[in-house]
Amino acid sequence: MTVRKLKVNGKSLEVEVPDDMPLLWALRDVIGLTGTKYGCGIGQCGACTVHVNGLPVRSCQVKTADAANADITTIEGLANDGELHPLQHAWIEQDVAQCGYCQAGQIMSAAALLNQKPNPTDDEIDGAMSGNYCRCGTYIRIRKAIRKAARFDNAAAGLENS
Ligand code: FES
Ligand code: FES
Repeated sequence: MTVRKLKVNGKSLEVEVPDDMPLLWALRDVIGLTGTKYGCGIGQCGACTVHVNGLPVRSCQVKTADAANADITTIEGLANDGELHPLQHAWIEQDVAQCGYCQAGQIMSAAALLNQKPNPTDDEIDGAMSGNYCRCGTYIRIRKAIRKAARFDNAAAGLENS
């Protein structure tokens, strides 16, 4: 067991974890942030997606030790001062979730996409989201919600022209 310093959703924490513990376990079982889900555990489904320094990563495949001192954002940290992220608004408006299990990972992948490409094409959306599986088949609504959130973001930034 080793004490690791983590910065999760803007808060600095110290956690005592085994050296090989994946970040997903530290987030869920040690810190108690259970919004991030365990799906496959082998890097295939995307349910465990969080941001590390702004990039989407599969937290089941990252050792906690390797995320020490990085900026980690989970679904619990996506809202800003209590205001939901535009994607979260769009998800609600489009009624995207079915069972909901995959959705935190879906939203975190989509948020990383919009950070990099505020106005993605459908091909860019499909490419960015292709590693996130949804057993309930909500893909069409996910794409619509991402488009909606992109328009909302651009309008808020004064960039919207349609
Ligand atoms: S649980 Fe991490 S990719 Fe499936
Ligand atoms: S909403 Fe059920 S797995 Fe995606």
